[in-house]
Amino acid sequence: MSHRCRVVVLISGSGSNLQTLIDGAADGRLPIDIVTVISNRADAYGLERAARAAIPTRVISHRDYPDREHYDQALAALIDDYQPDLVVLAGFMRILSEAFVDRYHGRMLNIHPSLLPLFRGLHTHQRAIEAGHGEHGCSVHFVTPDLDAGPVIIQARVPVLPDDDEASLARRVQSQEHRIYPLAVKWFAQGRLRLEADGIALDGRLLHEPVRVRPDESLPD
Ligand code: GRF
Repeated sequence: MSHRCRVVVLISGSGSNLQTLIDGAADGRLPIDIVTVISNRADAYGLERAARAAIPTRVISHRDYPDREHYDQALAALIDDYQPDLVVLAGFMRILSEAFVDRYHGRMLNIHPSLLPLFRGLHTHQRAIEAGHGEHGCSVHFVTPDLDAGPVIIQARVPVLPDDDEASLARRVQSQEHRIYPLAVKWFAQGRLRLEADGIALDGRLLHEPVRVRPDESLPD
């Protein structure tokens, strides 16, 4: 990339992952320009985070469109106005149509709060507790048409503790989300991370499995 990576971030809620990208861009750790933040909900707190950082925000409500196809077309038109190199889904609570996903093939990332392929979909923390798993975590992946099933770039693992409830486990996982999402975005922005026909390439080498980190480990560069 001959310019700083142009990033559009899509949110629906709090935007704590968005905040880590804003902070990383501001202090120079991330070679990105967040060119706009788009929410499907006008009350998403992440919009305030963006506004505070003087990033343009847009709200496009799914309620104003008759179906998913029309909404996704309008959303894509809005995104394309900003000519992003990368689309970052950061708590965007919408299922995306295949046409939308295909349009951003290889340039759209998501973070999911589980060790994929375990626990696709919602309520992942509760499901990990109920399944009696000793470990849980989060995954950053390229987005493909199947929900939460795209190739995984990096995962962080956390222990599930005996007295964990959904909220305590979610907090432990989120603190790891805030480490690995900026790292994956940085790799992409530096041109080191690519989705190729046969899988993910990082620094020119195919990843045979996701990069895995633990809470007590320092992150790779
Ligand atoms: C995160 O837990 C992420 O894993 C999931 O949605 C949540 C977004 O949180 N996809 P925030 O809005 O970034 O605080």
